[in-house]
Amino acid sequence: MRIGIVGVGPVGRALGTAWVRAGHEVAFGSRDPARAAEAATGLAGAQAMTQEQAAVFGEVVLWTPRGVMPADPDGLAGKIVLDPNNREPGPSKNYASPRPQGPSYAEQLQTAAPRARVVKAFNTVVMRMLQESPERLKASGAQVFLAGDDPAAKTVAAGLAADIGLGAVDLGGVEAAWMAEVMADTFRQAMQTSPAEWRQAVVFADLS
Ligand SMILES: NC(=O)c1ccc[n+]([C@@H]2O[C@H](COP(=O)([O-])OP(=O)(O)OC[C@H]3O[C@@H](n4cnc5c(N)ncnc54)[C@H](OP(=O)(O)O)[C@@H]3O)[C@@H](O)[C@H]2O)c1
Repeated sequence: MRIGIVGVGPVGRALGTAWVRAGHEVAFGSRDPARAAEAATGLAGAQAMTQEQAAVFGEVVLWTPRGVMPADPDGLAGKIVLDPNNREPGPSKNYASPRPQGPSYAEQLQTAAPRARVVKAFNTVVMRMLQESPERLKASGAQVFLAGDDPAAKTVAAGLAADIGLGAVDLGGVEAAWMAEVMADTFRQAMQTSPAEWRQAVVFADLS
């Protein structure tokens, strides 16, 4: 598939690289041409673009700028838009307080781009997991959580997860996306409060 990565931070870069290795055509789209070029360097099947160009390029678009809504929502019409975003609690790193309020990131994106096929996905993936081979990840049983209103889009998202060794759990429509976002809060809170135990408690994988 053609996958446009909007925003070349750690998540865009790691997932884009994993999808190139799985045989997809990936465009790394950044406001910084040097960052996009660096991400694409050495990866056959990867290109460097602006964020806007990557959104046009992708049949599937990974939307990584947290809380930033598309300037051209009509340009996303019909496209599968994957939302991996999680909130950040600030320097306190306390995910328990304040509690999340209002619509999830995926709901905000779906409202901003009503004709896009938004799927909450990959937000619970820990970067460390993406350094593993797909074979090892598959053997671990690790899963991602999906939420979105378009069943066919979720099937594609599940396929992209499977390509890099991850299973997928469908939580329901986009209104369920908050659950995946709170799941990520839970994981990250547990990493801090119970660093030795959190994997066994909340992650379906043992990569130790
Ligand atoms: N780190 C993890 O382990 C992890 C795991 C799962 C999910 N997540 C979530 O996934 C999302 C992406 O994570 P990340 O660590 O890659 O985030 P990040 O580096 O903070 O941001 C991702 C990209 O967003 C773009 N961006 C930021 N502000 C923008 C603005 N005002 N306008 C347009 N673009 C803007 C930047 O793209 P440019 O390249 O154009 O500068 C940046 O590279 C976050 O919501 C994060 O919470 C993180």
